[in-house]
Amino acid sequence: MSADLVHPGHLNILKTASELGRVVVGVLTDAAIASYKRLPHMSFDQRCQVVAALKGVDEVMPQETLDYVPNLRQVRPDFVVHGDDWKEGVQQQTRQRVIDALAEWGGQLIEPAYTPGISSTMLNKALREIGVTPDVRRARLRRLLLARPLLRIMEVHSGLSGLIVETTQEQRGEQVVEFDGMWLSSLTDSTTKGKPDIECVDLTSRLHSVNDVLEVTTKPLIYDGDSGGQPEHFAYMVKTLERLGLSAVIIEDKTGLKQNSLLATGNVQAQDSMAGMTERIQAGKRAQISDDFMVIARCESLITGAGLDDALRRADAYQAAGADAIMIHSKAPDMGEIAAFCQQFRAREASPIPLVVVPSTYPAATEDELMALGVNVVIYANHLLRSAYPAMRKTAQTILKSGRALEAEEHCLPIQSILSLI
Ligand code: SPV
Ligand code: MG
Repeated sequence: MSADLVHPGHLNILKTASELGRVVVGVLTDAAIASYKRLPHMSFDQRCQVVAALKGVDEVMPQETLDYVPNLRQVRPDFVVHGDDWKEGVQQQTRQRVIDALAEWGGQLIEPAYTPGISSTMLNKALREIGVTPDVRRARLRRLLLARPLLRIMEVHSGLSGLIVETTQEQRGEQVVEFDGMWLSSLTDSTTKGKPDIECVDLTSRLHSVNDVLEVTTKPLIYDGDSGGQPEHFAYMVKTLERLGLSAVIIEDKTGLKQNSLLATGNVQAQDSMAGMTERIQAGKRAQISDDFMVIARCESLITGAGLDDALRRADAYQAAGADAIMIHSKAPDMGEIAAFCQQFRAREASPIPLVVVPSTYPAATEDELMALGVNVVIYANHLLRSAYPAMRKTAQTILKSGRALEAEEHCLPIQSILSLI
């Protein structure tokens, strides 16, 4: 069982099982659940506590894989009791493996009929509509980092883009995949407001975008804090973001008038001293109240030309200053320098902390390749806005060219669909 949302269907299974003998329940760990669907609402320990207290349960054991066989070989039960809903769909093979394992010692599979009218999927949908508290959302990024080897994060700049990240799912091979969280990009937030990405949109204005996103989503949100400003100001930023239920802020080692890291024209951006950056990291870490919030240090040495050795030295210093993760950025057209950094950082690091990358200029890098390098978070930093803009511009041009709206209709969502979209 995941036992995240216990309902009468579970109780029915347990009742059937307890009539057959001593009942051992395998409770799936966060990592096992996160390997095929979203993180459970309750922690593994909380779920174990709930199951252990249910009538008819004699013992609870962790189940670390979706495959039941390792636990079954350990317990060698006379019966396995499981709802009959796994006879069809993705769990068919898992079921067959259980039948084969039971045959090794003459065990039997008992499959009570699925309880109609209630399911975890239904309850999860209802819960999503209710929303999430700041505390639960904030903690979710750290929990996900423990449960999954690589998190995929998508940029948001509005409530609507937040909804897209919240709800979009896609089949990739055997798996249904979705985004694990959201990135409140300074580039796309400023651009949406028609301003350049130079820290001229202040925290108060950016919090309007944050609020719009928080109101309609439940996934964890990572805030692009630009340079973080003065250490004293950064402490307030951390407190504000933490209170709202954001999970992390990323600040970069820039100083002076900020420019976007990917800007092709020249290199007028000064990189801050190591000491200046570590002072901000420490101020942020001192300011936070919960253990859940993360201050992530972004190193720009590969962008400014300071090079790989400088990047590694800085990453070590930022980690020592208390950074909870390192973001290493690059504007190279391939992942070569990122790969070199990751390999060397992982090889020398005494206590591993998460690594974050942003493959905007090297989009050919696959999630599997990044994972193999020891990357833990991949941020698709600007893609929703970059794809929305050409579509909107094309519609504007089409109407201007045609002198009417008819020709633009084929590019537009039907009126009835937009009315029922939300
Ligand atoms: C952003 O999305 O605003 C970022 C990433 O900071 S980058 O645009 O590459 O600097
Ligand atoms: Mg930015």
